Amino acid sequence: MPLWPFEGAAVDATRRATPVRRRPPIWSVVAGIGILLSAALWAASMPASDGSANSPSQLAQAEAGGVETAPVTEFERAGKISGYRFSTPETRRLQDHDDDNPGFLWVERGEAMWVEPAGADGKSCASCHGKAASMRGVGATYPKVSKETGRLFTLEHQVNYCRTERMKSAALVWNSDDLLAITAFVMHQSRGLPLAVATDGPAAPFFERGAELYRTRRGQLNAACEYCHVRNSGNHLRADLLSEGHINGFPLFRLGWQRMGSVHAQMETCYELVRATPEPYGSDELTALQLFLAWRSNGLLVETPAVRR
Ligand code: HEC
Ligand code: HEC
Repeated sequence: MPLWPFEGAAVDATRRATPVRRRPPIWSVVAGIGILLSAALWAASMPASDGSANSPSQLAQAEAGGVETAPVTEFERAGKISGYRFSTPETRRLQDHDDDNPGFLWVERGEAMWVEPAGADGKSCASCHGKAASMRGVGATYPKVSKETGRLFTLEHQVNYCRTERMKSAALVWNSDDLLAITAFVMHQSRGLPLAVATDGPAAPFFERGAELYRTRRGQLNAACEYCHVRNSGNHLRADLLSEGHINGFPLFRLGWQRMGSVHAQMETCYELVRATPEPYGSDELTALQLFLAWRSNGLLVETPAVRR
């Protein structure tokens, strides 16, 4: 009987991409704990909960097999666990080595875009912002309320705002390679810094809305985000080990997508998983939800570009 249920094509692809040393079946521990979520569970009525704190055994489980991976931070010990720790060693290794990390194709494209003139005035991002290092720490504070518009902006909104309002250029299409590239490049400047979004002041009403959406059941499965990512993190949903659903690695490269994706693309995937009609990219609903996700992830270190299954 296979001990570790991650037997998809995507995993095979990573095996081909990197030479893998065989590992003892440490995953047996994980598989032993994992449960398959059943239809009966979906129907069951669940008590409310908003915590993301984990038991030490859950952290041990997430760390299992992590010999060559980044050390667990004190912050994670205190209760939040990055999706990185829920990944297989093969997937983690892709993320650990920049040369093997396919997300860097987008980051490098973003680096080129940073100095590429666009729009009527022939300006590039660098014309106004100078070196990309000026963006260190910036991405970690998004989503945030834009002073100019009073709207809640993701980094994607902010970049497009600079393009249309300050560069006389066209907005980039959501989840297009170009918008993913420039946002991944900007987020990458904050790699290693803790996520630090504000939820008070002008952000408060958006945060409240996001919190509500996080707990709203949706789709034919009638499941809320928290059902999978709070109550069942550490358990299996078919072949997937459910993580806490943090966003410290976005935009990230998902092997299942075979490309980079934004937080909104991830939410689309999760909406579809519960058979709900996805909200449009960039919508107020997904943006408020993203603020709540970012708050849940506050303190976790930015990994962009992360790699996930
Ligand atoms: C004509 C000048 C100009 C250009 C060109 C420009 N920006 Fe901006 N950008 C600004 C100004 C002004 C602000 C608001 C003040 C600030 O936060 O620096 C801003 C703000 C930002 C912010 C938010 C900073 C924060 O602290 O929240 C980001 C991110 C950003 N720009 C990215 C970009 C990117 C990426 C490009 C290229 C696609 C770009 N900008 C092009 C002028 C410009
Ligand atoms: C039916 C279970 C289920 C529900 C409900 C669900 N998700 Fe997910 N989600 C998954 C699975 C499976 C994955 C991929 C494995 C993982 O990271 O958990 C995932 C991944 C994620 C990730 C990426 C985490 C990472 O580190 O890569 C985020 C963010 C996320 N979900 C957010 C949400 C949000 C927001 C909602 C509510 C709109 C939601 N999910 C609802 C199953 C679910």
